[in-house]
Amino acid sequence: MSPADRQIISARPETTAAIMAQTGLDEDKLTQLVHRFYDKVRADAVLGPIFASRISDWAPHLQRMVEFWSSVALMTGRFHGAPMQVHASLPVEWDHFERWLMLFRETATETCPPEGAAHLIERAERIARSLHMAVENATPRTVPSLL
Ligand code: HEM
Repeated sequence: MSPADRQIISARPETTAAIMAQTGLDEDKLTQLVHRFYDKVRADAVLGPIFASRISDWAPHLQRMVEFWSSVALMTGRFHGAPMQVHASLPVEWDHFERWLMLFRETATETCPPEGAAHLIERAERIARSLHMAVENATPRTVPSLL
């Protein structure tokens, strides 16, 4: 069965089917990607403890992240959350996002066909930059005195 023939729940079924055909992505691949990626994140010396301090029950988080990637990559509209707010309060800098992206690129390449991996990586890089800006804007800074 080709990816485009698979049943998928989407707010825009035709758009989703076209992206699946173009990229070779489907919900199974996204599920594999998410699970393998967070296995690596949890084992990572720098990122692991940050996630461990916020997440005790991983099953709902993984489910949520599959819905997120389904929304972002396949435009299914399945995710409803507030990632900007969640990340704005995390103790992270751009180096953390670089590390996150390094693991994401590696996992996307391992689990997805090349077009699909490129599609996901492009979106992850864009979102990482937005989240980093949200963190920067939320971090209190000392404003130099003009007096
Ligand atoms: C520095 C790197 C990152 C760290 C340490 C991090 C950490 C976290 C943590 C701890 C949570 C769970 C928060 C909670 O439920 O209390 C979370 C949620 C989430 N993260 Fe990240 N994250 C990072 C980068 C990213 C990137 C680059 C993306 C997207 C490309 C992303 C997408 C999400 C989404 C969609 C959620 C769920 C938000 C919600 O429930 O509304 N994260 N992240």
